[in-house]
Amino acid sequence: MTDLAQLHLDLKAALGGATTSAEVEAIRVAALGKTGKVSGLLKGMGAMSPDERRERGPLINGLRDRLTAALTARKTELEAAELDAKLLAERVDLTLLAVPRRRGSVHPTMQVMDEITALFAELGFAVAEGPDIEDDFHNFTALNFPPRHPAREMHDTFFLTPDPETGERKVLRTHTSPVQVRTMRVTPDRPPAGWIAAGREPPIRIIAPGRTFRKDSDATHTPMFHQVEGLVIDKGVHMGHLKWTLETFVARFFEMDAIEARFRPHHFPFTEPSAEMDIRCDRSGGELKLNQGDSWMEILGCGMVHPNVLRACGLDPDEWQGFAFGMGVDRLAMLKYGIPDLRPMFEADTRWLSHYGFSPFVAPNLATGLS
Ligand code: DAH
Repeated sequence: MTDLAQLHLDLKAALGGATTSAEVEAIRVAALGKTGKVSGLLKGMGAMSPDERRERGPLINGLRDRLTAALTARKTELEAAELDAKLLAERVDLTLLAVPRRRGSVHPTMQVMDEITALFAELGFAVAEGPDIEDDFHNFTALNFPPRHPAREMHDTFFLTPDPETGERKVLRTHTSPVQVRTMRVTPDRPPAGWIAAGREPPIRIIAPGRTFRKDSDATHTPMFHQVEGLVIDKGVHMGHLKWTLETFVARFFEMDAIEARFRPHHFPFTEPSAEMDIRCDRSGGELKLNQGDSWMEILGCGMVHPNVLRACGLDPDEWQGFAFGMGVDRLAMLKYGIPDLRPMFEADTRWLSHYGFSPFVAPNLATGLS
């Protein structure tokens, strides 16, 4: 057998044994690459005598052509097989159900925040927000807490380490009332704009939901809890507006036609007069029934915005009046959804959440019902 015939047989055998397109490529390089065996033969033709070239030339060229064709055919075949295998491996089963394996739920506190927001939105209230870390001015001073008054300590305030340069001592806000101040005060660095509490011109109708903090921990208090603040500023606003707004709110919140309420005089530095709103309930038999019996349950604090607060925010009390209110969201959630204990609300126990949580796919709204 000639050397050419042997080479042809060897290459054919190698090609037959190749199982991947990469192996075919390696064979091509070994034969037809720069230093390949067939390339060597082709190059050697230059040094042949004319007779030899006439005899071996067609054989060598023929070998190259047959080999090129065989390589291409095998490569195409293997590439197709490889693509098939890849497509099979990456196949998506479109008949699989699109149900997530784990489903989250909405915490009752957040559900109630959303309910309150939807409800007040319908009454024309926008949402305003302020920071969790507040300064003394917004949390206390502008809200008419006298300087160094024990009320500041009575709020069980978490104080941050004073700033070494200014001595300023920030606080974790003890209530959402500072958002009132942030909403009313129009200062050069806080031009009227935006839904975040950044000074807006009256008339104002906002609610401010958010986190609040107090150094307090027992069966009915947690160091972090949630409040919703409300503020209305306009001309000629009086207690009648406050009463209607809050009575309408509680009735809709508890999904009843009306709820019997009373406004009991109270004291807050930032309102005058101030009141706490109670609703009628029956607690006998360990179950809470609204609108029945002769117990009263406190559900929020409210009052007419104190003239000093208006002044601190740059509003003339002779021109503008308003009312404000503040309520504890976690407590409202417990009341509405029959949650007996406050502490597990912040323990992030998924069993508790799957029992008391709400579907994330149903947003509270007044058209289809709040809950
Ligand atoms: N800030 C009060 C608190 O933390 C709640 C409150 C009472 C807010 C009366 C008000 C209000 O806006 O008018 O207990």
